[in-house]
Amino acid sequence: MIRENLEKIREAALKQINDAGIGEKDALDALNDVRVAFLGKKGELTAVLKSMKEVAAEERPKVGAMVNETRDVIENALKEAKERMEAAAMNERLKKEKIDVTLPSKRQEMGHRHPNTIALEELERIFIGMGYEVVEGPEVERDYYNFEALNIPEGHPAKDEQDTFYISGDILLRTQTSSTQVHEMEKGRLPIKMISPGRVFRSDAVDATHSPSFHQVEGLLIDEKVSFSDLKGTLAEFAKELFGADTKVRFRPHHFPFTEPSAEMDVSCFKCGGKGCRFCKGEGWIEILGCGMVHPHVLEMSGIDPLRYRGFAFGIGLERIALLKYEIDDMRLLYENDIRFLKQF
Ligand code: DAH
Repeated sequence: MIRENLEKIREAALKQINDAGIGEKDALDALNDVRVAFLGKKGELTAVLKSMKEVAAEERPKVGAMVNETRDVIENALKEAKERMEAAAMNERLKKEKIDVTLPSKRQEMGHRHPNTIALEELERIFIGMGYEVVEGPEVERDYYNFEALNIPEGHPAKDEQDTFYISGDILLRTQTSSTQVHEMEKGRLPIKMISPGRVFRSDAVDATHSPSFHQVEGLLIDEKVSFSDLKGTLAEFAKELFGADTKVRFRPHHFPFTEPSAEMDVSCFKCGGKGCRFCKGEGWIEILGCGMVHPHVLEMSGIDPLRYRGFAFGIGLERIALLKYEIDDMRLLYENDIRFLKQF
């Protein structure tokens, strides 16, 4: 009885293993179903094992061996079928994923240093050569650092002029790198000789000369005997290094709240040498920065004794330098990051 039963089980199992994969079902899933149906806890072969207690004691070893043999046969068949199917699937995949080694390779696209970066590295090289340290300050600032401590109190017109992105009443995106002057002065380490490059933000509409986000390079020197002639000498030297040894500079009186006296510095047009051309709009001069002697009140607010210390400061528009130096006529080109443009510098 049991022998016949086992034979039927074996035949049925082998047939189902053979047929696995013929139907809709994934072949490996079908195999698994066969395993469960015959060898699983509620499987047919397991049922036979459970019925062993009805077999006479002396018959049990023989019947047990038969059950084991059947299980081995089914297990082997399952294993072989599984290996066969996996090999077939792998072959199929290899065929599909064949690589055509004769195709041209994808080129690794290299980027290019941005004109702003090139100009900044040049500026840093010049000032580091004069003993300046490069420091950075936060782009998100408190009103105090951006305005108050720079002599721009509540209600000062400069606060309206510089259309500011406010994050909250007191926190804003800095409109000028001059805020880093305050951070440096507050550290209480004197003398100070630093430049501080970075991004600034103003609520301006985009056009050929404006952007809501651009870059400045701040400069600050504070020491015991600093005069306006030190400022002039330093910035004249800087201009010659940047635009060529023949470059002349001129200082026009100006107003900044945090410097007194204040000036704007022009360089002689490096295109026409000062005669006047299209590049300098016939002026012969090109404005490149704002500067002045640090206001005593500004020193005082940051805890520096204005009777003992004096300083000068300057602020350079980095884009302006890049546009001039590389003769780019539209600021927007600097922000599009078109590699065909960037590669020209
Ligand atoms: N912060 C000024 C601006 O954004 C530029 C400037 C002018 C900076 C004079 C200075 C300075 O340090 O002394 O327009």
